[in-house]
Amino acid sequence: MAHNPQAKFRKDYQSPSHLISDIDLTFDLHDTASIITAVSSVTQQKESSTLVLDGENLKLVSVSVNGQPWESFEQSDTNLTLNDLPKEFELVIVTDVDPEGNSALEGLYKSGGAFCTQCEAEGFRRITYYMDRPDVLAKFTTTVIADKAVYPFLLSNGNRVDEGEAENGRHWVKWQDPHPKPAYLFALVAGDFDVLRDDYTTKSGRKVDLEIFVDKGNLDRAGHAMVSLINSMKWDEDRFDLEYDLDIYMIVAVDFFNMGAMENKGLNIFNSKFVLANDQTATDTDYLGIEAVIGHEYFHNWTGNRVTCRDWFQLSLKEGLTVFRDQEFSSDLGSRSVNRINNVRTIRGPQFAEDASPMSHPIRPEKVIEMNNFYTLTVYEKGSEIIRMMHTLLGETNFQKGMKLYFERHDGTAATCEDFVLSMEDASGVDLSQFRLWYSQSGTPTLVVTSSYDEDAKTYTLKVVQSTPPTHEQEDKQPLHIPLDIELYTQSGDVIELQCNGNAVRNVLDVKDSENTFVFENVSVRPIPSLLREFSAPVKLEYDYSDEELIFLMVNARNEFSRWDAGQMLLAKYIRTNILNVQQGQPFELSAGVVDAFRGVLLSDSLDPAFIAEMIALPNHNEVFGWYARVDIDAVASVLKSMKLTLAVELEDELAAVYHSHAQAEYNVEHASIGKRTLRKVCLGYLAFTEQGNDLVVALYESSNNMTDTMAAMGAANAAQLECRESLMSDYSDKWKHDGLVMDKWFALQGTNPDENVLDKIKESMNHQAFSLKNPNRTRNLVGAFLNQNPVHFHDKSGKGYEFAGEILRELNSSNPQVASRLIDPLLKYRLYDEARQALIKKELESLKAMDNLAKDLFEKVTKALEV
Ligand code: TRP
Ligand code: ZN
Repeated sequence: MAHNPQAKFRKDYQSPSHLISDIDLTFDLHDTASIITAVSSVTQQKESSTLVLDGENLKLVSVSVNGQPWESFEQSDTNLTLNDLPKEFELVIVTDVDPEGNSALEGLYKSGGAFCTQCEAEGFRRITYYMDRPDVLAKFTTTVIADKAVYPFLLSNGNRVDEGEAENGRHWVKWQDPHPKPAYLFALVAGDFDVLRDDYTTKSGRKVDLEIFVDKGNLDRAGHAMVSLINSMKWDEDRFDLEYDLDIYMIVAVDFFNMGAMENKGLNIFNSKFVLANDQTATDTDYLGIEAVIGHEYFHNWTGNRVTCRDWFQLSLKEGLTVFRDQEFSSDLGSRSVNRINNVRTIRGPQFAEDASPMSHPIRPEKVIEMNNFYTLTVYEKGSEIIRMMHTLLGETNFQKGMKLYFERHDGTAATCEDFVLSMEDASGVDLSQFRLWYSQSGTPTLVVTSSYDEDAKTYTLKVVQSTPPTHEQEDKQPLHIPLDIELYTQSGDVIELQCNGNAVRNVLDVKDSENTFVFENVSVRPIPSLLREFSAPVKLEYDYSDEELIFLMVNARNEFSRWDAGQMLLAKYIRTNILNVQQGQPFELSAGVVDAFRGVLLSDSLDPAFIAEMIALPNHNEVFGWYARVDIDAVASVLKSMKLTLAVELEDELAAVYHSHAQAEYNVEHASIGKRTLRKVCLGYLAFTEQGNDLVVALYESSNNMTDTMAAMGAANAAQLECRESLMSDYSDKWKHDGLVMDKWFALQGTNPDENVLDKIKESMNHQAFSLKNPNRTRNLVGAFLNQNPVHFHDKSGKGYEFAGEILRELNSSNPQVASRLIDPLLKYRLYDEARQALIKKELESLKAMDNLAKDLFEKVTKALEV
């Protein structure tokens, strides 16, 4: 490339040279040449008559200042610099953009037949030249003009204030947003839709109109999104005392979207995957995903929009906090333990992997080349864990006091992570000085715990040693403040009260040093410890539990999360041992005690079926990979398969009994019904590997009256490579070939196909009428699933999996760099594999690096990965 893209550093933050109080936008929409007129009221803030505006891929039509055409400016690929400016002025900029040619899906683009925008993080600069930074807050007025027959709905942020007819069959609508906002929250949509309408009365009695816009014919798939929106509005009032602040809330579902959804003020734009659902097209998981994402975007109205970020390094201020809020929402409405288990799986699997990769970064990054690369599991999911730890340290009451103080201090402004922590500290009196390190230190800490019991003194001692291994670009690590939630049990399952120095102490221990010793008194018998309850910190725990202790905790721990975690630790012990066995040519072994423990769980009539399903689910490949510095892909695959087969054979009768007894005639999305279907799906996942597998799967597929059961059957047929696989796949494709969103499930099965010929079948699937590499959902489901969820064939020793990834990445580099940059992640982790595979992956990375049009998204990741 011509010159290497430059990094920006958090430490270099400077407040803006100018502020913009108001911006009046007019969009004259046309497919390939949309004309945008931006009229801004600008005031100088620092001694400078120069204003540097951001702009990319723009045709500049004209510039004028206070009504005069302005000639004193310079233009570059990324900026428009205006010189000799007065202190206060009205700036008019006219630009010309090509929405139809915009396949990157940033700025103004066309999705299907509709115009829409995506401005976060830095997309507004592809619409007009502007101070495209989150600390410049302006009041937006937006007029949208388009052909009336093709685009009957013209939408933007805020309230509709005026509308009218224009010449040539065109019409216009004018919107005004009373809340000052940064440009990244701007949105516009023009199209023809079906609309689902409802309303919500806030607790102070204001009526809010709710509108969900979907493609024509999809009205019967919008109901769950509406219910979820109303539940979100109610929950935020009940739990956080936060009310909605406009008279209208709109959601538009689009098929072409790079991410999940976007919280634009009053006008959310959603990937249709997180809106559209009915029992024939969506699984229970899809329904729960819709609830979570609708909640997430709605909760951003306060944590993101009313209080936004000063700069993009502060992204976790809004994302970590909003993920915490959406997790709490899902937990309050559904099963808290199942939600916690799934969130913890995400942290321990993909987030720990990211933190061990060349892209490792703190939740508040120090250095960024392409901001889109930092919408990560670390900023979002680990960011939420950091908020959750503060919640654990402060308790709900003090945490809510902290939230209140945060809004008192920062409502209507652009804030920092430090502002948030300070509000929590000031409101609660809890000292968070050492805790702040979680914002700047990357990597995953390890806690090595050892215990000893003194029979005579009746004391029990826990020694906790913490350490964080060096990460890419951050060598030195300091001890963190880690809340360690524990409980001690007697052999009969009674809880032992925790006492230190003669006083009762709480369950959450403050681990602050490299080495910490906690001595508990009046412990009458050697206890069994339950450690890191509720996953009270995002760390790796090492404690030398015996099988018996883990089986004890699986049955006796008081909270469900600890029982699940004990089961996982037990499985992990045997997975590790068997990986060694495979490597040494020894047979697979699993003790009868372990099998019996899982039999007990399966047959329990006191446990919630949804929870049993989590208990008996094995960790996936990626989770196991995370336990090793050097991964033996084939050994892991072989052990996980043997584990599955062994449990399937040993527990066949019990699995079959549970499978049959949990059948339901009717479909509904109540949590109890979802739990039963999930348990059946997990049982079938085992039974598929037994003699009766094919018959059970065919019977379920044929009798299914809902997508959840249909996918349970197809997933099992795929994973166990059953005889019926091909016929089910072609039946499904015949039925759904016209519907890309529903076909995504089919594409994902092609991507994860364990068959030897998977790559040929993937290439064939790329010719399917529903497939397009231009559509991010299609690409992620087919190609992304292969790269991330098919380790054995993606890492085929021939290197053909890597070559395929390289081809796709080179194509997406030009059409949609943001999607390319998410897809490349598994290649960045090449150091995990053997020398031969490393060399093959590096070859692909080198060939990307050599491209002369390499986008900065990929440039940033590829160069980091190739640095030693
Ligand atoms: N703010 C969005 C969210 O978390 C994320 C998002 C949506 C996004 N679209 C994007 C981020 C495009 C970067 C680019 O809810
Ligand atoms: Zn978000």
